[in-house]
Amino acid sequence: MTETSARRPIIILDFGGQYAHLIARRVRGLGAYSDIRDPSTPAKELKGAAGIILSGGPQSVYDTASPTADPKIFSLGVPVLGICYGLQWMTKALGGTVSPGKVKEYGHTEIRPVSGGGILLKDIGERCTVWMSHGDEASKLPDGFQLTATSDSCTHAAFEDPRRKLFAVQFHPEVTHTEHGLEILRRFVELCPATPWSVEGYAKRIGDEIQEQVGDRRVFMLVSGGVDSTVAFVLLNEVLGAHRVQGLLVDTGLMRKNEIAEIRAAFEKLGVTNVRIEDASAEFFHALQGLVDPEEKRRAIGDTFLAVQKRVSEDLGLTASDGWMLGQGTIYPDTIETKGTRHADHIKTHHNRVPAIQQMLKKGLVIEPLKELYKDEVRALGEELGLAHELVWRHPFPGPGLGVRILCAAKPDTFAVDDVGIKRWAGGWAVLPVRSVGVQGDGRTYRHALALFGKEPFELTEQLWRFATEIPNKRREFNRVLLCTSSVEPRPFIFSPGVITKERADLLRDADAIVTEEMRRADLYERIWQFPVVLLPFGATPGGQSVVLRPVESQEAMTARAAAIPQDVLRRMTERIMKLPGIDFVFYDLTSKPPATIEWE
Ligand code: XMP
Repeated sequence: MTETSARRPIIILDFGGQYAHLIARRVRGLGAYSDIRDPSTPAKELKGAAGIILSGGPQSVYDTASPTADPKIFSLGVPVLGICYGLQWMTKALGGTVSPGKVKEYGHTEIRPVSGGGILLKDIGERCTVWMSHGDEASKLPDGFQLTATSDSCTHAAFEDPRRKLFAVQFHPEVTHTEHGLEILRRFVELCPATPWSVEGYAKRIGDEIQEQVGDRRVFMLVSGGVDSTVAFVLLNEVLGAHRVQGLLVDTGLMRKNEIAEIRAAFEKLGVTNVRIEDASAEFFHALQGLVDPEEKRRAIGDTFLAVQKRVSEDLGLTASDGWMLGQGTIYPDTIETKGTRHADHIKTHHNRVPAIQQMLKKGLVIEPLKELYKDEVRALGEELGLAHELVWRHPFPGPGLGVRILCAAKPDTFAVDDVGIKRWAGGWAVLPVRSVGVQGDGRTYRHALALFGKEPFELTEQLWRFATEIPNKRREFNRVLLCTSSVEPRPFIFSPGVITKERADLLRDADAIVTEEMRRADLYERIWQFPVVLLPFGATPGGQSVVLRPVESQEAMTARAAAIPQDVLRRMTERIMKLPGIDFVFYDLTSKPPATIEWE
């Protein structure tokens, strides 16, 4: 942790487009240590790299604003692999030519290895289906390169310079749709003298580093009940001993049903007793009084956390001057800010990187023992440490908890619309009288959702999924598309002002518990990434409210796809939620991220 420079990673230069994390995880899966960096990192800072992978990205190398890397990376003497945009930048940087392709290719394509496929594409057969996504292509190879694969629409689909160990593929070997993709990556990884990587035995390896960083101090840590902070806390306990660690579990009043009791039981089962549980729910509800803006709510929750933490740590004599430092469950994707991931960070302020924490980090007062791990690796470590399977496989839950799932508004905010840009929809539609956060084009949006009503409210048809993509594309005033699962025809939405109250939190907790129960019962819970349930301040009656179901599939939450839930499960959830007091509508969020985000706020 303190001296990652001692390790030789394969460095992925992130050209954007969300591919870098996937490549990094694949490389780790192949047993090599990987790290993601901004493409503008100077070559001299990459001297410790065992190899370099240039990731794909959505741009054209001819746009002046497109990302570039330092051409001196080719003189470091380590293997370099350019993927998609990475291939094009590499071609241009080494004196080849890139031109607009004959056709733009998105999706499956067949390539044919030539000259035996060279080193990377050797023995993969005469034809191979790969996943491509590009407009430009390399029209003239740089000196020293030989062609290793071609396709009907892309003459130079792969090429390499074996002498200098430089490789380029126009397709994406990291996606599962590419046949032999992993094999191709493996061949590259095997050429790189990278530090071996495996999460097995991580606790032991990281133990020395934790000891060294903490020295003779002790660690105070906020645990939320989420996977990351729980695993980090148990790891610190294991390494430092319980007498040098103190946990604090703050009951914000915005947790899931029975959450505090479940966490307490899980810790007790492990013999972990050094956690103080502080009921601060009244303080949180007080701080949230009258607030409706999502970022203001986040700030209020963040500030209250800090105030409670300060009060308790002073109470227990756990301050820096007493030799204590702060532990956090930060994981790898939360720590990197590159061209590809920077974007997402501006959408919502992440609670473990607020300014107060940044300052403490600079002073060396923070320890983050999981900051090199991906979520799936954290889970594997959790199991290794003996944590209960159910706890380790719980869905991620945001720091501000239900606070970002209870939508608040002082007055209705809506507009009339005749044409929403879709054809052949037999049902009706209605614009919601509240807005939610999304990410469209270059940044954060705060826009409306469009609800569709149809005769088959539990059937998620192809047409619906298509509308969910088309509508926000054509009508930028919408960032979400929903299906109403509780009524077949629109009824007027009746808005009632709503802020965060204990009553609303209790109601949402009940709806959330129904969803979790039904997902577990159908054995679907662990198959999806997350399933936020959201409460909206309008219904069909004065004072009535609505619930949104938001199941998503995702790898690391940078992008996500709405998950399809089977009809019978959706029906049961809807029927049970409709029985809760004052719930008038249930909706199903069909939108991907982008243009929506996973959470509504
Ligand atoms: P979005 O809504 O931005 O969420 O697509 C991406 C992932 O981050 C989680 N999330 C948070 N986690 N503090 C957290 O610890 C936060 O303030 C926060 N906001 C969103 C969200 O649940 C999803 O997994």
